[in-house]
Amino acid sequence: MAASGTAQATLVGSAASSQEFRIQEFTAQEAAVQVSAVQGEAVQVSSIVPAGTEVATALTAPSPLLEVRDLAVHFPIRQGWLRRAVGAVRAVDGVSLALERGRTLALVGESGCGKTSVGKAVLQLIASTAGEVKLDGRILTGLSRSALRPLRRRMQMVFQDPFASLNPRLSVGEIIAEGMQALGLGRAEASPAAAVAALLAQVGLDPAAAGRYPHEFSGGQRQRIAIARALAVQPELIVCDEPTSALDVSVQAQILNLLGSLQADLGLAYLLITHNFAVVEHLAHEVAVMYLGRIVERGTVGEVLHSPRHPYTQALLAAVPRIGSADEAPPPALSGEMPSPANPPAGCHFHPRCPRAGAECRTAYPAPVAVSATHTVYCVLNAR
Ligand SMILES: Nc1ncnc2c1ncn2[C@@H]1O[C@H](COP(=O)(O)OP(=O)(O)OP(=O)(O)O)[C@@H](O)[C@H]1O
Ligand code: SF4
Ligand SMILES: [Mg+2]
Repeated sequence: MAASGTAQATLVGSAASSQEFRIQEFTAQEAAVQVSAVQGEAVQVSSIVPAGTEVATALTAPSPLLEVRDLAVHFPIRQGWLRRAVGAVRAVDGVSLALERGRTLALVGESGCGKTSVGKAVLQLIASTAGEVKLDGRILTGLSRSALRPLRRRMQMVFQDPFASLNPRLSVGEIIAEGMQALGLGRAEASPAAAVAALLAQVGLDPAAAGRYPHEFSGGQRQRIAIARALAVQPELIVCDEPTSALDVSVQAQILNLLGSLQADLGLAYLLITHNFAVVEHLAHEVAVMYLGRIVERGTVGEVLHSPRHPYTQALLAAVPRIGSADEAPPPALSGEMPSPANPPAGCHFHPRCPRAGAECRTAYPAPVAVSATHTVYCVLNAR
């Protein structure tokens, strides 16, 4: 007779061999059948705990909230009065990443490397040329406007410049209520005014701010308003594009603290776009370093900031004296400029600037090397 109780099953087989699922109140055999039916893979039930033991909901697969696979965004370069495409700016050129609920993934790199284009393509604000974006397992790329509409409220963006991103002709209350109304959302509060007041309080502003206009506020307060507007539709994912770089140093930490406490309270996931490693250290859990449209290194904040393996990451960090390994000679600072994404160099895109480039770097793009289960680098120096 099969044991009954709460089963913990492990998916075995191809890609997801380490994933675990918890299934309440099934026999071991039923658990296996259930998971198999959902995932289309073989499973083995790894443990049975007594019935009634508190575990996660009936069937919980730890799939990321956001999954991006081989994303490309190419902007056509048009010339002549017929506006013929004569080439393309390869702003994003094969980016893959994953972001769990309640976590922050920072996307870092020099100006023009494609960070904002990734963020906008994730939110379906610009079209992607290739690849796939999934939110909570649902493919967003290629969906029609009407199919996207109910998904839009689940992901929002907070921009760098809170003055430019807030409509100066609308009151703060109207700005915050606008998104809710557009998406036909009602919050738990009795009226839209009560919902706006609650959101303002949530971001540390006086609810009386609802009747005032954006120009009456400081930069930090405007960024709080922009965050309240994003929260108004109860998103799960927020793309924060340089959320503090337009602010005075004195208020940057306050906004980062606010984002951190909102994440803890609401379980938000952040795709944090920044060129500032201090911001990464403050808020992020994982980091992906971009160069010329591609991710060249990714890992946890500890791995990438304290044990960087790619010469580009090392050079970026060399400009930040307090971060990096103290017992190694500092790597040379970054010299030269990033080449045009309209004409990326052959081989490793970083080779024209890399002090350690060899002949092989000029021919083939480096394969990914797994430094650890969470740390990956695209550089031949790390190949075993
Ligand atoms: N709409 C567009 N049309 C043509 N090229 C574009 C467009 N948007 C961005 N680009 C180009 O794509 C590349 C990547 O731009 P993107 O704004 O994504 O970079 P970024 O990393 O966010 O830079 P920054 O740190 O300066 O904000 C740049 O070369 C940029 O000029
Ligand atoms: S692959 Fe070669 S050129 Fe590219 S970062 Fe590594 S050493 Fe430098
Ligand atoms: Mg940008």
